Amino acid sequence: MVSEPVNVSEFQELARQALPKMYYDHYAVGAEDQKTLEENVKAFHRIIIRPRILVDVSRVDMSTSIMGYNTSAPIMVAPTARHKLAHPEGEVATARAAAACDTIMALSFMSTCTVEEVASSCNAVRFFQLYVYKSREISALMVQRAERNGFKAIILTVDAPRLGRREADIKNRMIAPQLKNFEGLISTEVHTDKGSNIEAFVSGTFDDSLCWKDIGWLKSITSLPILIKGILTCEDAIKAVEVVVAGIVVSNHGARQLDYSPATITVLEEVTLAIQGRIPVLFDGGVRRGTDFFKALALGAQAVMIGRPVIYGLAAKGEDGVKQVLSMLKDELELTMALSGCSSVKDITRRHVMTEQDKLH
Ligand code: FNR
Repeated sequence: MVSEPVNVSEFQELARQALPKMYYDHYAVGAEDQKTLEENVKAFHRIIIRPRILVDVSRVDMSTSIMGYNTSAPIMVAPTARHKLAHPEGEVATARAAAACDTIMALSFMSTCTVEEVASSCNAVRFFQLYVYKSREISALMVQRAERNGFKAIILTVDAPRLGRREADIKNRMIAPQLKNFEGLISTEVHTDKGSNIEAFVSGTFDDSLCWKDIGWLKSITSLPILIKGILTCEDAIKAVEVVVAGIVVSNHGARQLDYSPATITVLEEVTLAIQGRIPVLFDGGVRRGTDFFKALALGAQAVMIGRPVIYGLAAKGEDGVKQVLSMLKDELELTMALSGCSSVKDITRRHVMTEQDKLH
């Protein structure tokens, strides 16, 4: 039994103890052999920080602007589905904790609390993550609800034309509850005798014909800025600039989709070099320490999102647990900045890290 958790991995252990195996597995697993899941974390370990000395760090300012919104640190809550399986208060608890920590939260399209419940839970800047269903009207309706309820941006997730093969979900015959957002619109609870019910739902519902030209459709139904989440190559980064979106997220969906896709931190620089500052680049995948945030910022991310650490905090201690995880990681980032000689976010430069690539040259 872990006493007071002092890091994300101890929160993960508390979550494992708190949750039924089916739900813990669902949150923790990656796709197939989980090579990318392992690499998402391990690739950070291979990046070395190059600290600078004799810099006045008596005051470290982590504040920054994300998509034009001022925030206390370049840290965001990634969109993750079904928070009520982790805690009865679900996304409302997460939203309150994020707001208390002055952190922007992206609400998942597959949330267990409604868009309206989250919006009315507290005042904060929030983004809304979107999946496109075969029934486009349902997705359009959700975008309009998000817009009406004050969400500030749409994050279109594009790495899930089909669901990745998550073998724990298949073995556990993972069942997910009906999502309140879609009541009266579509049944999100699909029952199959074979394997994961979530997989059965996604294969019947998600639009796997979605392609670049559909960004035009999305722009036609919303005036909110659009970010594309799931970019892993310079080719697709350039395409995103060409179709004129407001930003992108370098992400492999927490290694839950394509096993052997690259660890996100290993492709971040390829993407930021291609983007050349034309639009903001957000990042997620495998971030578990303040030093990981620092490395992603040094490689060009404007902000860094965390997925599982938030769920582990929620499962372990509800709203308070999410607050603890966010403030712990903020403190870790602040300490990393101080010890590396960076008194503000803009002081963090490419020269502050050494990657595997650098060692070869
Ligand atoms: C996710 N992710 C995700 N992404 C998305 O766009 N919509 C979603 O509904 C979900 N749901 C979801 C559920 C769970 C349980 C996990 C772990 C992840 C992916 C998420 O936004 C993010 O990309 C990763 O979680 C980042 O990796 P880490 O921080 O979990 O390592």
